[in-house]
Amino acid sequence: MKVVCIGSGYVGTVTGAAFSALGHRTTVIDIDSDKVDLINSGNSPIFEPGLESLIPQMVYRQILSASTSFEEIFDADVVFIAVGTPSLADGTVDLKYVKSAARSIAEHLNREQFTVIVDKSTVPVGTSELVASIIEEISGLRTNEHFAVVSNPEFLREGFALEDVLFPDRIVIGTDHPGARTVMRELYRNLIERTHYDELSKRVAFKMNMQAPKAVYFETDAKSAEMTKYASNAFLAIKISYINEVARLCETLGANVLDVAKGIGLDSRIGDKFLQVSSGWSGSCFPKDTAELLETSRKYGSDLLVVEAAVHSNLRMHINCVDKIKRQLKTLNGKNIGILGLTFKPNTDDARNTQASYIIDKLIALGANVSVHDPKGMEMFAKINGHLPIRYCPEAEDVAERADAIVLITHWEEYAALDWERVRTKMRTPYLLDTRNFWSRQRLSESGFRYEGMGI
Ligand code: UDX
Repeated sequence: MKVVCIGSGYVGTVTGAAFSALGHRTTVIDIDSDKVDLINSGNSPIFEPGLESLIPQMVYRQILSASTSFEEIFDADVVFIAVGTPSLADGTVDLKYVKSAARSIAEHLNREQFTVIVDKSTVPVGTSELVASIIEEISGLRTNEHFAVVSNPEFLREGFALEDVLFPDRIVIGTDHPGARTVMRELYRNLIERTHYDELSKRVAFKMNMQAPKAVYFETDAKSAEMTKYASNAFLAIKISYINEVARLCETLGANVLDVAKGIGLDSRIGDKFLQVSSGWSGSCFPKDTAELLETSRKYGSDLLVVEAAVHSNLRMHINCVDKIKRQLKTLNGKNIGILGLTFKPNTDDARNTQASYIIDKLIALGANVSVHDPKGMEMFAKINGHLPIRYCPEAEDVAERADAIVLITHWEEYAALDWERVRTKMRTPYLLDTRNFWSRQRLSESGFRYEGMGI
């Protein structure tokens, strides 16, 4: 099959690389020629574990390529729309890139063959119909006759994106069109049946989890597939907000949230995932998706009060971290705070919309001087938060210089083994706030630190 993927961001690049690994001739299209050149020279335009080894192999074998030309669509069997979906000021999704991709598809469709267009980006319920109507209007071709639009939401987590695409729990296909369903089944056949996995495992750098259960292939209508994505992300956000609130109460009552989360998670109806306490969830998906879902629910008079509460509770969790530091240091005015981790979670360079930016903003407003470090996210963070007066440190331990507090926001593995003796000597006040319960209280207390975790 020939697959075209419009967009070379997180979703498009990973999707393109994964389908090429599954044996489909794949072209990623992007209007940004720098990104296209990067892929064609065997490099990844984004940081995502595994891509650095997979992309060059696929490009060398001429099964993966990139292009700025939409003419690639002409002989494609499947065209993925994997463009960005930024938020508008009211929280709803700006579909300008999706609409522009639909127009480009309409202009380049082959009238002689049936083409399946797939919405991979997270888009509001009803977008498949919108995309179909744009294509019909511009091309004069009829939907479900010359082409069909399918919703196939991505469920990939940044940092584990390739793993999530190649070992998904489920593949959700939203279309009522029988021909499109057949094409999608064929597209995913290697994944569903687990054929060619030996060969595939040689191509990806990470260890293939051959024991992982097979993906459940689930077919439904387009609107239900679109809704599934929003409802899933909102549910996960609720789960984290809930355990974070429980953590605050545990702290007050003297219980240990690590044990409580374990105890809750042992119930198979609940499960043990997404019960890790933090300074709150963030990133480019949960905040955006909950905002869109909430706006839509309000618009149709069907308010999702539980989601609203989770969003509210999440902001309180960010503020709670600032309050904790303030309580320890009495005032933040003139205090030096070191921040470890700027990305919304480890193993990604994505520094958009992070807990760190919210917390740092508040610390600076209260008069603190902030020094930061992140192994991958400093460049993006600085670009987005250029207005914030921050000292960017090349080494993690540099944030300790005359610091009154070090706050761990993102639990990058390299922060596990800092030279604690050196860190403590550099600090003015040896206070550590570990928002991920990542370090050992016992070990750090023994090393002379005043250690605070979350809910423990
Ligand atoms: C999410 C969904 O998981 C994925 O299925 C969807 O396709 C895209 O959105 P992602 O945004 O990459 O993926 O990150 P995720 O791993 O879900 O984490 C989101 C935020 O929640 C991060 O800030 C993370 O640190 C936080 N988190 C996650 C917690 O605080 N506790 C947890 O137990 C899990």
